[in-house]
Amino acid sequence: MDLMEKIVSLCKRRGFVYPGSDIYGGLANTWDYGPLGTELKNNIRDCWWKKFVHEREDIYGIDGGILLHPKVWEASGHVANFNDTLVECKQCHHRFRLDQLESKKCPDCGGEFTEGKKFSGLFKTFIGPTEDKTSVAYLRPETAQAIFINFRNIVDSFHPKLPFGIAQIGKAFRNEITAGNFIFRDLEFEQMEIEYFISPDADWQKIFTNWQEEMKKWLLGLGVEEKKLRFREHGENERSHYSKKTVDVEYDYPFGIKELYGLAYRTDYDLRQHQAASGVDLNYLTEEGKKFIPHVIEPSFGMPRTFLVVLLESYFEEEKRVVLRLKPKLAPYKVAVFPLVANRQELIKKAREIFLSLKSELAVTFDDRGNIGKRYYSQDEIGTPWCVTVDYQTLEDDTVTVRDRDTTKQERLPVDKLLEYFQNLLRGSL
Ligand code: GAP
Repeated sequence: MDLMEKIVSLCKRRGFVYPGSDIYGGLANTWDYGPLGTELKNNIRDCWWKKFVHEREDIYGIDGGILLHPKVWEASGHVANFNDTLVECKQCHHRFRLDQLESKKCPDCGGEFTEGKKFSGLFKTFIGPTEDKTSVAYLRPETAQAIFINFRNIVDSFHPKLPFGIAQIGKAFRNEITAGNFIFRDLEFEQMEIEYFISPDADWQKIFTNWQEEMKKWLLGLGVEEKKLRFREHGENERSHYSKKTVDVEYDYPFGIKELYGLAYRTDYDLRQHQAASGVDLNYLTEEGKKFIPHVIEPSFGMPRTFLVVLLESYFEEEKRVVLRLKPKLAPYKVAVFPLVANRQELIKKAREIFLSLKSELAVTFDDRGNIGKRYYSQDEIGTPWCVTVDYQTLEDDTVTVRDRDTTKQERLPVDKLLEYFQNLLRGSL
């Protein structure tokens, strides 16, 4: 099994990620996050929000709608430009996006392709009882537009000084036709995006470079090895319709070096388009009385690729165990509590007491199945940083062993100091 197969299998077996609509044979490019995957995803989300919203003075967080006025997507250029070219193999009838093909022959059977056909990446739906042109709406293909159309609201409510950013985490939807490598390319996925508004006179190149550094620091904080990252600037023909400069943050996945995140200089394109289409003044007025439409730098982070990279970077096979060396803040469970044996009521009772007292403050699990060694390995495989074992000595002096996932070393700690001990280890940023 290669690394991807191992990760996919671990994800399914241990409840991180299941194939979407599994009992119906699956729905291509859709996935459901299980209990542990949901915890991991929420932890990534919370760390991102802490770093880019709570710890900064210049970024405001919002949660905009998935359904926006259809005119938003006309003004943004997505209705006209969010297209890809589809080709179909004449032999095996598999379909591909032309821009993702490396050769002119079908990668699955070597067959010839049909002529390219344009298709829209937008998911269409209808608002109201009639399904006609007047009721068409789109599921958002990027979270960014909810930010642009709330620019005026944020300025009016908070009077921020430039430069400032608006951040959002939420679902985006794309009509992807190429089968993806696990969660790498999905029909629906979360984005974590910031639109960072700057004066048209600002040194945008410098601000762009600063954001590139911020993205790198975030990835290193997640535990990603620097040598796995590349920063690749898009060529003239590759850039999105709104961008004057785009750099892809790429990662060396087991299936090749591919995009992880994007960083774009969108200029004043979006605000200008929305001003023209809505008729609402989207100028910014400085304290000195200067009026202009701000420009924008956009760091865009995809959640599934972050999730995948975190798993790839933390997966290790050792002689006797598989261990996910997740940063403790990201781990689905911070602590697992065990009674040394499962047939001594007084040990189980004490272990349950400790479990319940920790559970109100931390994500904690309880396990009394099998022998203690197996329980440790089972927690290692899902990345639980600390295991607490209640043994006979606990009943005498109210101390427990705390076993560290990475070193496998154990130390004895008083039960009444446990919570403080774990909270200290979890304090601070990633
Ligand atoms: N607002 C800018 C924007 O949406 P993008 O490069 O199209 O730019 C940004 O997407 C990020 O969203 C990508 O770098 C990637 O992490 C993620 N992403 C895009 N399409 C995706 C898909 N179909 N499945 C999973 N993640 C995707």
